[in-house]
Parts: sequence; C-alpha cells; structure tokens
Amino acid sequence: MAAKTNSDDTDSQFYLTADTFFPRNANTGLTFDDVTLATQFSQILPRDTVLDTRLAENLELHLPIISADMDTVTEHAMAIAMALKGGLGLVHYNMTEKQQLKEVSRVKNHVHGLIQEPITVTADLSVGDVLELIEEQRYTFSTFPVVDEAGNLTGLLSGSVVKPRYADRRVGDAAIPRASVHAVTEKELEPDPIRVADQFFTDHPGINKLLVVDDDDHLKGLFTLSDVERIALEKSAQFKPARDGEFRLLCGAAVSATRTQAGELDRERITTHVGALLERGVDVVAISTAHGHTQGVGDTVKLIRDAFPALPIIAGNVTSATGMEFLADCGANSIKVGQGPGSICTTRIVAGVGIPQLTALYVAAKGAAAKGVTVIADGGVTKSGDIVKALTLSDAVICGGLLAGCQESPGDIVEISGKRYKQYRGMGSLAAMKAGSAARYGHNAKDATRKIAAEGVEALKEVSGSVDSVLTQLTGGIQSGLGYLGAANLTELHDKARYLRISAASQHESRPHDVIEVKAGN
Ligand code: XMP
Repeated sequence: MAAKTNSDDTDSQFYLTADTFFPRNANTGLTFDDVTLATQFSQILPRDTVLDTRLAENLELHLPIISADMDTVTEHAMAIAMALKGGLGLVHYNMTEKQQLKEVSRVKNHVHGLIQEPITVTADLSVGDVLELIEEQRYTFSTFPVVDEAGNLTGLLSGSVVKPRYADRRVGDAAIPRASVHAVTEKELEPDPIRVADQFFTDHPGINKLLVVDDDDHLKGLFTLSDVERIALEKSAQFKPARDGEFRLLCGAAVSATRTQAGELDRERITTHVGALLERGVDVVAISTAHGHTQGVGDTVKLIRDAFPALPIIAGNVTSATGMEFLADCGANSIKVGQGPGSICTTRIVAGVGIPQLTALYVAAKGAAAKGVTVIADGGVTKSGDIVKALTLSDAVICGGLLAGCQESPGDIVEISGKRYKQYRGMGSLAAMKAGSAARYGHNAKDATRKIAAEGVEALKEVSGSVDSVLTQLTGGIQSGLGYLGAANLTELHDKARYLRISAASQHESRPHDVIEVKAGN
C-alpha cells in the first residue's frame, strides 16, 4: 500500500466517510440530491463491476433492484421481467389471496422463452379485424394462433397474410390449418423445454413459431425462434436471471398484517396464506407497512418466522436504528428503509412525519450492522445516480415510479394529448386503500370507504418501454458509479464511498444547464 501523503489528508478533510459525514450533518435531513460522491483511484472498468447482493442466507440477486409491491407496479409480468434481469419483483397484495397465489405460480412456472398466454384470434374474425386489433393494442407482432371458444388450437394466422390486401378474408380461411401447424405437447417439452424448442428450430429451417398444446389440444403457449436465440445469448450475459435452486425465477410476495374483526392479528389466516405461498415456491415474503416499528408488524414478523424458520422475510418500513433492531429481533432478514420519500407519497405532508432518505439510510444501517441484517432502500429513486448513492448505505433498492411506466406493469395505457401514460398510485391513496391496502397504513379496510386521510396520490407515468430497457439503462449507470469509485462490487462501494454535501447552486450545476436540451439523457 502506498504511503499516506498530504494530498490524502486534503481529500479526507473534504470528502468524508459515512461515519464522519452523517454525524457531522446530524441536525439536517439529507437526501440524494443534497449529496455527491467523490471519485477514487480506480483500476476497474464499469463493465467489469459485479452487482450481486445477498439479502438473506438463501436470497441472492444479481442486480440489487426490486420492484415495489404496489398494485400499479408488480404482478407476474413485472416479477418475471425483474428476475430475468437478475433482480426481484414483490407481488402486491391488493388482490385476493387466491389470486396472489396464482400470480406467484405464474412467475415460478415461467419457462423463459415460452409465451404462456399468447394473444389469440378466432376463425370468424376478418383479417381486417386483426389489423385493427394490432393498431389498437399496438402489438409489435402479427402472427396469431387461432383458437375456438374452448381454447382448442384450430390454426395459425401467419404475419405474411395479415396485410390490408387480405382484409376481407376470414381468419379461418386465411390461416394455416391445424393439421399443418407445428406444435408439441407440454409433455414432449420435458425435462428441458428450451432445448426441445431449440432443436425443433434447428430441424425446421424457415419455421420461426412452435406452438405448445396439452393432451386435449388446448393452446398452452408459443415459442418464437428469436426468443429462443436470445436465451442462448443469456448464457454469456453478465447479469444472469435470479433463479432458485431448481432453476425457477425468484419471486417475492407482499403479505398483509391481516386482523380479525375483533382487531387481533389473524394468525391462522396469515400462516395459512404464507404456507400456501411457500407451496407455490415463493422465495421471500415482505411485510410492507408505512410504520414497521410497531407491535403489529413485529408480531406478524415473529409469527411468520416461528412458523417458517427458513423463509427469508423482508419487513418495514423504518427510518431509525432502533426500528431496524426491533424488526431484526423479531426475525426479519432484510429491512426496508423509507418513510415519505416515494414519488407518490404524501406521508410527510399529511402526517408531518418522515426522514429524508440518505439520512434515514445511514441511521437505520447502523442498526442493521449491529444485528447482521440487510438494508433495502425503499422509495425516492428517480435516476441511476440515486441508486448508487443509496447502495453506499444499503444492499438493494426498491423502485416504484421508475418501473410504473413499463409495459410489464399492471394497468392500461391512456393517451392524453398524443402522449401515452400508465396509472401509478400510492398504496396509501384512497383508491388503493379501498382496493385492500388500508392495513398497510394502519387503517381498517372498511374505514377506507369512510373518511380517512390518504397518504399517497394517484398519478400517471409516461410509458417507458420494457423493464429490460429501463433496467439496462439503470445498470449501466450503477456500474459507471462503481467504476468512478474504484469499487469492483457492492461491498467495496460501501467501503469507498466518500460524501460531500452540495449547495443549491451545485445541484443546478449537476444537471444539464445553460443549454437548450434537444435530447433528454436518462
Ligand atoms: P417511488 O419513489 O419509487 O416509491 O415511486 C415507491 C415506494 O413508495 C412507498 N409507497 C408509499 N408511501 N404513501 C407513502 O407514503 C403511499 O401511498 C405509498 N405507496 C407506496 C413504498 O414504500 C414504495 O415501495
């Protein structure tokens, strides 16, 4: 190691470690934009940095990003897309328990490359109707399996005939008839569906769709050549999908601290549901509430910990070291930090409560270190630089708003003045609480129809493309941050982070300024 020089002393006087910086700023709450990170000598290229993170003994991700358990963010499509990129999705609980089990099953049964619910058409439509459907739904493909009312496969409408010149033809007449459609049964795909599909495409040059049916010829899925080829590339990809020991994608689910009519924790209902989630293969449950340092949340964590000793538990939210220690003592493995930083949150306005996110992370992380649990930074992330700053004090981040505009988030696209948006609402908004999340904010579900104070807003997010493209951008930014700090991985990021508080003028300087921006950055 090189000897310490005067320059080192100068740097360390200005660019401070977390343990010096945060206590020195103890009287002010700081969030991402209040602070910048100093560069460090680096021998690592951004592309060589590794973003693996271990949130619990048996919960490891290759990308430290989790999609929020919100009803406008994470259902099966989002959870699948997150896990495919190495992250994790937490399926929300604003649905019936039965429905949530189904959502988890869809993630755990997802065969990468197999489209499990392909968009289908029926024989009685005209090709013109199909063209309209494509336009309306903005589909980027034009080949459709043809099914009858019972879901039986009756043909395949090839993209080569979905053209205006054939608009008047009946789909039934224009489609390739069932007898000539290439299809395999689900059983024939075992034990390695991708290998079977890959071999099929090699054996059938020029064919780029393979349909999957059950023994009764009900349509069960569709492989496309391009997807199967992409999977071959995945093997050499840097960010591998997050999978369990049986090669299934990881999936988390939020669990509500449900109460009986008498106001007691509904122990039986909670353990029965968590047991059912485990049977479906869930990898982690999250007890998500606005105030996690409470008897009710603690009791729920204890209940689940006692009933399922090996199940990873995420719990929260807290913003204090004592809150962190409390949930750790109750049995949580990974604890969410964040009260009020979320883009749709109004807790700080409505209740006057909450802590700016970076200060909250530092304080809570002290409690985590004392107990050996991991920290998840939840809310307020609007750009990749925020994630880098959050990861200097945590093990993963939760994103809601950044992912709510993706095509994989639940909800329809609405068009306003030519721009396309998706709904994004706080789980503490009146609409979400009516749909079931009242318990998260300490209210009875029935109260949600009466006058209770909402702690979140209903909003719109501009449509932002696929999770794959959003996460690719974010990952590039995070790796760049690690490269600047000379950090090969997240542990080194924690060690090497040096903080500097910045002025309002510096915040202005940090963004594009004094130019006319013609193309937005991230
Ligand atoms: P972002 O900033 O990523 O935040 O959109 C997502 C996180 O916000 C929290 N959340 C809420 N907080 N009122 C709140 O005070 C709400 O209605 C609400 N809904 C979600 C939650 O922690 C989420 O992960």
